[in-house]
Amino acid sequence: MFAAAPIEAADKAGFYAELTQQARGLLHGERDRVANAANFAALAWHALPRINWCGFYFFDGNELVVGPFQGKPACVRIALGKGVCGTAAATRETQVVRDVDAFPGHIACDGASRSEIVVPLVDANGALIGVWDVDSPDLARFDDEDRAGMQALCAVFVDSLR
Ligand code: SME
Repeated sequence: MFAAAPIEAADKAGFYAELTQQARGLLHGERDRVANAANFAALAWHALPRINWCGFYFFDGNELVVGPFQGKPACVRIALGKGVCGTAAATRETQVVRDVDAFPGHIACDGASRSEIVVPLVDANGALIGVWDVDSPDLARFDDEDRAGMQALCAVFVDSLR
């Protein structure tokens, strides 16, 4: 059985290094997308402080469709280019939003969300898999260290599917 150890890193870089290591162990030996997404979301939910939602939207060839997540029920479908998730998917660039109310077209799923980070998930061939989305009830919860850390964490998920 996998046991997630409490993370006691002194800084964000150390925190993400430890969380990424745990994710690698958790997903090791399994390639199923739903299984790995579900376990990945559960691991992140219990490790990341000050968040109110984390989970996946998968690209179905046309739009984003919600996948495994933790938090309150969420909007199911998001068009490419719409909201923070659709913007990350369309631009293939991580979106760090300090204030969701200041993001044009932000889609409010949980009214408690104040800031958000969305990482695009792209496979080795350059095909869009979907996005990883994390919401916080705190303003400016995510910064450039979260961007780098979350991207490294997501690479573990993407690599697990190969
Ligand atoms: N806020 C997102 C929608 C998804 S929820 O946060 C879970 C967006 O603007 O794309």
